Amino acid sequence: MIIPTPVHLAAGTGRLTLDPRTTLSADAAAEGAARLLRTLLAPATGLPFVPAVEGTVDLAVDPALSPDCGEEGYRLTVTPERAVLRAARPAGLLNAVQTLRQLLPAEALADRPVTGTAWTLPCVTITDRPRYPWRGLMVDTARHFQPLAHLLRTVDRMALHRLNVLHLHLTDDQGWRMPVDAYPLLTEVGSVRARSMIGHAGSTRYDDTPHGGAYTKDELRTLVRYAADRGVTVMPEIEMPGHARAALAAYPHLGNRPEQRLDVWTEWGVCPTVLGVHDAVLDFCRTVLDEVMEIFPSPYVHLGGDECPTEEWESGPAALARTAELGLPAPKALHGWFLRQVGAHLLAAGRRPVVWAEDSTSTLPPEFTVMPWRDGDHGLAAARAGHDVVMTPHRSTYLDYPQSDRADEPLGQAGAVVDLHTVHANEPGPGHWTDAERAHVLGTQAQLWSEFVATPDQFDYLAFPRLLALADRAWNPASDWTTDFLPTLRSHAPRLAALGIHRTVLL
Ligand code: ACM
Repeated sequence: MIIPTPVHLAAGTGRLTLDPRTTLSADAAAEGAARLLRTLLAPATGLPFVPAVEGTVDLAVDPALSPDCGEEGYRLTVTPERAVLRAARPAGLLNAVQTLRQLLPAEALADRPVTGTAWTLPCVTITDRPRYPWRGLMVDTARHFQPLAHLLRTVDRMALHRLNVLHLHLTDDQGWRMPVDAYPLLTEVGSVRARSMIGHAGSTRYDDTPHGGAYTKDELRTLVRYAADRGVTVMPEIEMPGHARAALAAYPHLGNRPEQRLDVWTEWGVCPTVLGVHDAVLDFCRTVLDEVMEIFPSPYVHLGGDECPTEEWESGPAALARTAELGLPAPKALHGWFLRQVGAHLLAAGRRPVVWAEDSTSTLPPEFTVMPWRDGDHGLAAARAGHDVVMTPHRSTYLDYPQSDRADEPLGQAGAVVDLHTVHANEPGPGHWTDAERAHVLGTQAQLWSEFVATPDQFDYLAFPRLLALADRAWNPASDWTTDFLPTLRSHAPRLAALGIHRTVLL
């Protein structure tokens, strides 16, 4: 009863008891996983896992397991005498540690001392590996700031469910959250908006409460390190050329009408003001991304690219001049040109640009990785054009939509219900794609846009249990909704409670 459902699990007989005398051994390559095991089990169990040459709990990296385990798989064998964790790579051992945590009584997940519980593991043999290398969660820190402590807790919960990419949406019209030394006003001005819209985009009501927040670079480094220790990569996103109003409020010269003073946007929806296309803007983007790359070692860096209205380019003298100079058919084509320029900067630095796609008309080179967010078949078009894709269709991966149509469901994004079954049914490699097209699918991820997510409790309510359905689907293609996922989810409820997640819609 583990989430995500392991690919091969054979139950044995008997149990192994962990107690204060339980010893632990780890080879050099397994030290990170051993440290993680001690760190994660200490708060609830207080168990020291005394170092030994041949421990009761034994962790080792064995490259010979590569054919079975790949980069992130593992083998976990529990007998009445020992728990043996093996993987071909250290990342696999981190996953084995998380599975071991789920085999223990649920109270083991608590963050405070638990007494009176026997820390026993059922005897079992698990051989497990993920279907996809990209199993993500996007967190929108712009619409509502998500404090570091909440992000760290979220990383813990992702790692427990063997999700491995935290996509951090750091900038948008309503706030800029990442400090940039070369452009200090991005956070001094761009991180605070005067008020927020109440209700959906187009509403005329506001709360008249300023909202703001920005990370320090030290906090972001802490997050990156903390996540890496848990096998999670933090991928930053800096939105361009649209969704950039907060940057324009800080630096009007980056806009299409430099004389215009703009506020950090207080509305929801698609903002008509976008970045200009003059040289100073490209310099700005490259400089910002250089500082981003200093903090985030992620091989992928997201450039946004979605929802960029082109009216300002169609009427702006600088954009019209740029269109003519480049010989482009129309100002709309500046969008692809812009992303190609900035993407080339990332590629030259050895990183891979990622963009959202909302149609099938990309003119970007195949080195760009694409997240189709409207229609899954936009991913098909991208795969045919040679792009790798991470499947993010809104009707099955957007957790900001309500999870039911019940009257007491909190306000969510309008237009759809994304229920638990729909998330679990999300097929990242659809059957009507060819094998070659499916080979471009890196994986899938959930999106938690935060227009209506002002508190950690609201975040958790939207994330759980739907994030678990996505984790299950991304890990194990054979996991069946009725016979695997649902029964496991029911038995998972005490674990969620031990993590402090109480208000969930469980079936
Ligand atoms: C998006 O939802 N605009 C990526």
